[in-house]
Amino acid sequence: MVKGFIFGVLATMVVGLLVAYVGITQGLLIPANADAKPSHMERWAASRSLDATIKREMPTQSNPIPPTDTNYLAAIKLYGENCSVCHGVPGERPSSIAIGLYQHAPQLAQHGVEDDEDGETFWKIKHGIRMTGMPAFTRTLADDQIWTLALFLKHMDKLPARPEHAWKALRVPVALAPRSALPSPQPGSTSTR
Ligand code: HEC
Repeated sequence: MVKGFIFGVLATMVVGLLVAYVGITQGLLIPANADAKPSHMERWAASRSLDATIKREMPTQSNPIPPTDTNYLAAIKLYGENCSVCHGVPGERPSSIAIGLYQHAPQLAQHGVEDDEDGETFWKIKHGIRMTGMPAFTRTLADDQIWTLALFLKHMDKLPARPEHAWKALRVPVALAPRSALPSPQPGSTSTR
């Protein structure tokens, strides 16, 4: 009786592993293309794991960079060079690169991260987000540059006049997605490019 039960459990495990193996090696369980819709399971696992990692690892200190015009302007320049290709700028359509990415890159001028703590944004920029297009900038930006970007992202909806002007004037340095590629009309997209 006990033997039969143990055999049943083992057999179920072996069959389960076999199904998972075949599903993965045949590309059925986890599609490898960037234009596939991710399963609920995949989305759940990715977001739970990200939340837990950030909670454990993000710095809890306050942002060491003071909110001055000079620092905001430096952040906007860094954003233009390193981030706008995926995260967009105010008043322009997203780039073709951004539209083709999976996971989608949030267009930060429309859907910002002002509600997130600076430490969380710092962590995301420094370490990137695994299995998405979000790169780790740990080898290319100094920590104070990352804090400067985090400062800007925290306050991008209420910038002082000079930085606000520079932000509005920023342009994406690569091809914009054709209008026909956009999922729905983009609010605030006034560009004629
Ligand atoms: C090659 C494309 C790419 C570049 C360049 C890029 N990102 Fe990202 N970023 C992404 C993607 C894709 C995501 C969404 C990841 C996900 O779904 O979890 C993301 C997510 C984020 C998030 C989290 C947004 C949220 O709603 O929680 C922040 C903050 C962020 N990026 C900031 C930056 C900054 C700052 C830069 C420049 C220094 C940058 N990213 C450069 C692709 C990019």
